[in-house]
Amino acid sequence: MQLPNYKEASKRSREKVEKEQYHLPVEDKNIGNNKTYYLKTYGCQMNEHDSENIKAILEEMGFQEIDNYEHADLVLLNTCSIRENAHNKAFGMLGRLKHLKQERPDIVIGLCGCMAQEEGVVAEILERYPQVNFVFGTHNLHRLPIILKKYLDTHKQEIEVFSKEGNLIEGMPVKRMSAYKAYVNIIYGCDKFCTYCIVPYTRGKQRSRRKEDIIKEVETLVKEGYQEVTLLGQNVNAYGKDLEEEYGMENLLEDIAKTNIPRIRFMTSHPWDFTDKMIEVIAKYPNIMKAIHLPVQSGSSRILRKMGRRYTKESYLELFDKIKRTIPDVSISTDIIVGFPGETEEDFMDTLDLVKHCRFDNAFTFIYSPRENTPASRLVDNTSLEEKEDRLQRLNQIVNQYFLENNQKKVGTVERVLVEDHNENGKTDLFGYTESNKLINFNGSADYIGKIIPVKVTETKTWSLDDEIYK
Ligand code: 5AD
Ligand code: SF4
Repeated sequence: MQLPNYKEASKRSREKVEKEQYHLPVEDKNIGNNKTYYLKTYGCQMNEHDSENIKAILEEMGFQEIDNYEHADLVLLNTCSIRENAHNKAFGMLGRLKHLKQERPDIVIGLCGCMAQEEGVVAEILERYPQVNFVFGTHNLHRLPIILKKYLDTHKQEIEVFSKEGNLIEGMPVKRMSAYKAYVNIIYGCDKFCTYCIVPYTRGKQRSRRKEDIIKEVETLVKEGYQEVTLLGQNVNAYGKDLEEEYGMENLLEDIAKTNIPRIRFMTSHPWDFTDKMIEVIAKYPNIMKAIHLPVQSGSSRILRKMGRRYTKESYLELFDKIKRTIPDVSISTDIIVGFPGETEEDFMDTLDLVKHCRFDNAFTFIYSPRENTPASRLVDNTSLEEKEDRLQRLNQIVNQYFLENNQKKVGTVERVLVEDHNENGKTDLFGYTESNKLINFNGSADYIGKIIPVKVTETKTWSLDDEIYK
């Protein structure tokens, strides 16, 4: 048994991270034959992409995916720690699985992802959830076959969570969700330690993948007919800072643009590491989408300092205006937290003021949620939940107004859309996303799925555009 340890997780060594090739331990090849699995993913794109690896690993062992957990032989939860409600959702599911296990004692239950890295979560599982048969963390995903086999051989709860990152694992199998859009990891972990955020503890230190491995992966995707890649990292702008070579995000973006993949996206960008060079490269290459996610978190310089964000309201606005000036038609989205400990009405008004200046294309807004072991969770917080909810509502009103306004500007324009699939809303045949990442619903033949086609915007709603194919 190896339990999570926060002290280890907070350390940042200067040791160089080595890479290691994944291979499935041969003896494990058939343990899933004639068995089914159900994998539930919570949280961000990183987790979604980890789940694509997990699915492929399980399928290499013979398991088959089904979409009803009640009938599965193996149920695995890939969890998220970012806010309390993600945490509660996973524990809610564990409660349901506890009952299921009473009816079907043979079912195997596993938990992985960020929550597995939390000391408190694992302690609770040990104490109250003996039904959870195995747990593994974000640094030992590649060891899933070994951990699972150990449980199946011994029938004893198996917990293996590494708190130190270990090597970069290359060559893991992947079962991608889409045949047209792909996630590609470029950097793991985060060294920013924003005071509210649990990620630096659950995902470890900043480690960049080698550029050759990333470019090779994108080139393979191009050959397979993929239309879009999203380069993933907690902070993609820090790409390369831990490598010996002078090679940063701007160089990587440029080299990936040259693979001629039709669309490149990247997320998430911390304003601190956003260089002028990056802005130039984004402006220069038509296949780099002009859509930037640039979390601001707060518009109050006082709160930003307490959050450890390393920029002020003024310097954020300076960067924002520079990006808008240099990249015509760029769309910028953001994340905002309200109710950080000590946030006053005046601080909140600063946030509203910033939002009014930026008129974001999209904003994801959250009430601050104290996370185990983070510095902010130890701060005094006198603002009532009622007040925080009221701030969130006022913020959302403004955010939605700009969202709609930005969509309305698109009416009459022709957008290039990557058509994703049939629409399940029953109202239109198809849906896809514009270059600026706006959801678009329209009528057309299934032949368009997986292609980038021009469509003309005819109507807008707050959350989407309605279009017709442009001939
Ligand atoms: N409480 C609320 N929101 C948070 N986020 C990260 N940590 C917390 C927290 N403790 C938000 C930030 C981040 C996004 C992914 O989640 O806005 O950008
Ligand atoms: Fe969390 Fe800050 Fe790192 Fe983003 S940059 S993952 S908010 S610590």
